[in-house]
Amino acid sequence: MTACPDVDAAIEGLVGALKRHQATITGVRAPDPGRTQVLEDAVSRLASVRGRAGFYPYIGSGFGRGGLVQLADGSVKWDMITGIGVHGFGHGDPDLVETALRASITDTVMQGNLMCNDEAISFAETLLEASRPGTRLAHCFPCTSGALANENGLKICMQHRCGAPRVLAFDHNFMGRTIAMSQIGDIPGGRQGIPLDTLVDYLPFYEEQDPEGSLQRTLTLLDRYLWRYPHQHSCIVIELVQGEGGFVAAKAAWVRAVAERCREAGIPVWFDEVQSFGRTERMFRFQALGLEDLADMVSVGKMSQVCATIYTEELNPKPGLLSATFLGGTVGLSVGRRIIQRLLEGDSYGDDGRHARLHAAFHAAAEGIISRRPQDFPEVETDCPTPCEAFPLIGGAGGMMRLTPYGGRLAAIKPLLHRLYDLGVVAFFCGHGPHHLRFLPPVGVMQPEDITEVMGLLEQAMDQEA
Ligand SMILES: Cc1ncc(COP(=O)(O)O)c(C=O)c1O
Repeated sequence: MTACPDVDAAIEGLVGALKRHQATITGVRAPDPGRTQVLEDAVSRLASVRGRAGFYPYIGSGFGRGGLVQLADGSVKWDMITGIGVHGFGHGDPDLVETALRASITDTVMQGNLMCNDEAISFAETLLEASRPGTRLAHCFPCTSGALANENGLKICMQHRCGAPRVLAFDHNFMGRTIAMSQIGDIPGGRQGIPLDTLVDYLPFYEEQDPEGSLQRTLTLLDRYLWRYPHQHSCIVIELVQGEGGFVAAKAAWVRAVAERCREAGIPVWFDEVQSFGRTERMFRFQALGLEDLADMVSVGKMSQVCATIYTEELNPKPGLLSATFLGGTVGLSVGRRIIQRLLEGDSYGDDGRHARLHAAFHAAAEGIISRRPQDFPEVETDCPTPCEAFPLIGGAGGMMRLTPYGGRLAAIKPLLHRLYDLGVVAFFCGHGPHHLRFLPPVGVMQPEDITEVMGLLEQAMDQEA
């Protein structure tokens, strides 16, 4: 079907019509008064069916252009959070729409582990090839959520370590919301009411205020756990840039020291890249940090559209451990593969790549705001016991961007996000105290000047402070 002239012409017509319609989206726009009721009705239906209201009264219209998204009330906003990191190429990208259209006329909506088509193989091959240079990674098992990729990862590690029951993880980490992942993730609310049967040994994560001291504290506690529980750890799981925990980007030397200590004890090293995948200065954050030799397992999701667990030959599990009815949707597999190809073929990566330039634009604009409004950026308090430097107010890496106003107080950051939303920017927060403004922009389609415009709106929202 892909080589059929009728199909090509039909797809060309559809994508052409989309592009013509997209020409109407040129910038942020206020709601259309005639459509405000449509949005309000949809928001209350969502709250009713779900049992609670969402953070924003957000319902998309299904239409957008690049970094701009149109809501059900006709308003247009900058999307600086992309469904928490999913829509890396923004809204209505014509090339991805074409890929999706071609995939949509194949014979099945879903592909599974018993029966799949070529899209499932090609997706896994493309992801694996991108991850492979310099590593021993050998296999890729796709699935439908980041939490499930991590469940599969945990099972693989436990089986490899002959049922070792314990997991080494970090303060403030996040792994998803299955029963096991809610227990490993360090969010008290996520564990409430859950029987705690997963044995987790928490280590302090990299602290930007005291890198040296933080390494000593982590290694000391790690040694204590290794002595206390010999051969009982199935893995150490590391988010190289902590996502939900506050966009803390660990330095390579720190990760290497901790991971090598685990390797010496025979414990597999697992990088959870579900949030960082695709977004930083290389496709994988472990590549940006030069940690290829330490990757026994990597989990990815979000921007890849279909999630996956990637692992070495040594970790390849016995038959029967992994499966599921669904492997991924045909459209998701095709679009996910196309995204990976475009990220690799384009100018996304490298020290002067698109993601680095976007981050630089964010950094410059954020510094400007901080210098003009020092009163909004008081010192941030953290639980670092021996701070030798002030907590940096700007952080993250590449398309993971953090800014910490108001001393990291959530009670002030949430209202700021709502004022920013009303001005035309969808963003979110991260961290567990201190809290931060979090931006996960559509890195594939945004320009540095778009980031500057968004940051101008942020300053306006700060001006409106009551
Ligand atoms: C680092 C990390 N791991 C795992 C997950 C879980 O992914 P999902 O929400 O697709 O289950 C997330 C989601 O935010 C994440 O940030």
